[in-house]
Amino acid sequence: MNVQAYAVRDEQRPPDNLLLQVIQRGLRSQPKRLPSWLFYDEQGSALFEQICEQPEYYLTRAEIALLGAHAGEIAKVLGPDVRLVEYGSGHAIKTRLLLEHLATPVAWVPIELSSAPLRLSMQRMEQHFPELPIQPLTVDFTRSLRLPVSPRVPRRTVVYFPGSTIGNFDDREAAQLLRKMRGEMGDNGGILIGVDLKKDKAIIEAAYNDRAGVTAQFTLNMLARLNRELGCNFELGGFCHRAHYNAMAGRIETHILSRHEQRVCVGRLQVLFREDEAMLVEYSYKYSLEDFAALAATAGLVVQHVWFDPDQMFSLQYLARAN
Ligand code: AVJ
Repeated sequence: MNVQAYAVRDEQRPPDNLLLQVIQRGLRSQPKRLPSWLFYDEQGSALFEQICEQPEYYLTRAEIALLGAHAGEIAKVLGPDVRLVEYGSGHAIKTRLLLEHLATPVAWVPIELSSAPLRLSMQRMEQHFPELPIQPLTVDFTRSLRLPVSPRVPRRTVVYFPGSTIGNFDDREAAQLLRKMRGEMGDNGGILIGVDLKKDKAIIEAAYNDRAGVTAQFTLNMLARLNRELGCNFELGGFCHRAHYNAMAGRIETHILSRHEQRVCVGRLQVLFREDEAMLVEYSYKYSLEDFAALAATAGLVVQHVWFDPDQMFSLQYLARAN
């Protein structure tokens, strides 16, 4: 396995014996880095839900508003008898808004490695759509996967990837993931993907530096988690969160900064942090319409439709095979 993979969710967390190795390797590299999936233990996932409610974090609200305004039209584009394959079972609200408008969907296939959140979103979905077949897959969506046989033949398989989670992958990884989706959806299929847009730097930076400090807590929870799970001795007060928009690269770069020189034990490894040394924990890419169309093209896809929220902060894009 590629232990350096810069992946998104806790699902990608390696087995316990590997966790220490992955973390040690990241802390030995120059510059130091920690993998983004480390955010999402139980506490981190709860903190992320709180982030979504912060006034500065516009992404979730914008995507929900977008669906409120356009779900009917989106459903028309997707057509009847769709099999909806969702990468990450995610915020049930968004999926519900979409499914409410789909004509005779064939099945919902939520993909999520950890079974607890998967079961929860399935229960919520069953209540709203008692007739809808649910075919969960507990696998890592970045790996190759085999979709279950549908109860009826779908007219079209649509991969749904909301939240702009694609932004956590660099261009090469994102193209690879899109190409994998392209294979899974088949000739007549499509990808419905949430894509956060480039905009005023101050707005983007505020979204990752909320005034209540929830994002900072979310970031520092990584160190708390390493203390809990690997018995490290990170002193949380000795570190701080920094999220900066790199306009050249078009991405938020989130780092954990060491406030002073210090040493931390990570297993048998002693890690030295210099004063102000930065450790990379996350990228969140933002895209212009041209950026994303170019990325899609490298994966053999073409953007057929783009929808925006009323404030034009966020987009939902429908991709199909280019040929
Ligand atoms: C869940 C990956 C879409 O990048 O905006 C939120 C994660 N990190 N605040 C994002 C996150 C800091 C979020 N995604």
